Amino acid sequence: MSESTRPALAGFQPERVEDPTLINLQDYEFLAAERLTPGALAYYTGGANDERTVADNRAAFGRRRIVPRVLRDVSHVDPSVEILGRRWPWPIWIAPTAFHKLAHPDGEVATARAAAARGITMVLSTSASTDLAEVAAVGGPRWFQVYLLADPGARLAHVERAVAAGYEALVLTVDLPRVGRRERDIRVGFTVPPEVSVPNIAAAAGLPLADGLNVAFADHMTWDDVTWLAGFGLPVIVKGILHPDDARLAIEHGASAVVVSNHGGRQLDAAIASLDALPAVVEAVDRRVAVLMDGGVRRGTDALIALALGATAVGIGRPVLWGLAVNGEAGVGHVLDLLTAELELAMALAGAPSLTDLGAEYVI
Ligand code: GLV
Repeated sequence: MSESTRPALAGFQPERVEDPTLINLQDYEFLAAERLTPGALAYYTGGANDERTVADNRAAFGRRRIVPRVLRDVSHVDPSVEILGRRWPWPIWIAPTAFHKLAHPDGEVATARAAAARGITMVLSTSASTDLAEVAAVGGPRWFQVYLLADPGARLAHVERAVAAGYEALVLTVDLPRVGRRERDIRVGFTVPPEVSVPNIAAAAGLPLADGLNVAFADHMTWDDVTWLAGFGLPVIVKGILHPDDARLAIEHGASAVVVSNHGGRQLDAAIASLDALPAVVEAVDRRVAVLMDGGVRRGTDALIALALGATAVGIGRPVLWGLAVNGEAGVGHVLDLLTAELELAMALAGAPSLTDLGAEYVI
C-alpha cells in the first residue's frame, strides 16, 4: 500500500464525520440521552423488568473473542451478502422501532433516506409515526414489520396496504403477544405525545389518526398465521425466534428467513441473549433460509462475531434512534457509516476479506 493510494493510518474513514466528538455508536447514545425528552429516552432505552436481557445482549458479545487469521490478502474487503435474491452492500439492516418522530420531527422519512442512500434495508415498524406509503416514496430497499391487528378486517387491510406500497418482504414479529412490562416507562409516566400518531394502524382500522394507539394487536396468533401471511406472495420473515425448534417450525410454515431476536430485551426479561441463541438456530436452519439477528450490536466487531457464528446479517435498532435524535437523517447516516466502516476494518484485521471466509472457528 503506497502513501499515494492511502494516507498512513487512514484505513478507517466513515464518509461523513459531522462532529469530531462522535466517533462511535456509544457517543451517539450519550448525546442522544441529552437531547431526548425523559419519556422518549425511557421508552427507547428501556427493557422489560430488570433489563437483564437488555444487558445480556451486550454482555454476550463481551463473552466472546475473535481469533484472527493473518497474511491473507485484505487489499479488497467485500462485505456484501445476498439475501432473498438481492445483493446487500453490507450485512446490516435497520431493525424496526416505533415512533421515530419521538426522536426527530422528520421521523421515519429521515431514517429511510439515510438507509436508502447506502442501499441498506430498513424495516419499517407497524408502529411507525409516519404512514407506510410516505416512507415507501423515499425509495430504497424496504421491508415492513407486521403486528397482526386483533380485528380481522383491520388485520387484512393492514397487510394489504404494505403490499400495495411496494414493501419487498413482511417481517412478522412473534414475540409480542402482549407488551412486556417496561418499568422505565412506568416510572417516568411515558405516554406517546399528542403530536405523534401511528398512521398505519389508524388507516388499517379506518380510524382517525389520534385513535390508532388504541387499536389492539392479536394475542391469539399461532403458526397458522405465518402461513396466512405467506399467502400474500411476499417473503415472510419471522422475527423473535430464540428456540431452534421454532426456527424449524417457521420454515415449515413458509418463512423465507428468521430473525433471532428478543425484541431488544423489551419483552420477556431473562430471555436468552440473541447472540447466545444464534448458534443453535443456525444449526437447526441448516442453510435452508437466511438467519438474521438483532440485539446488542454496537460495534463492527460485534457484527463480525455474529456473522462468524452464522448470522446472515445483523440488525441495529436503538443506535438508529440515537443518530436520529442527535442529527436527523445525517445522524442516522453517520451511525450507519461508523458501523459499516468498523465492520470493514474488523474483517480486514481478522483476515476475512469476504463474509464467506468467516466461520465459527473465528470466535471463542
Ligand atoms: C414495540 O415494539 C416496542 O418494543 O415498544
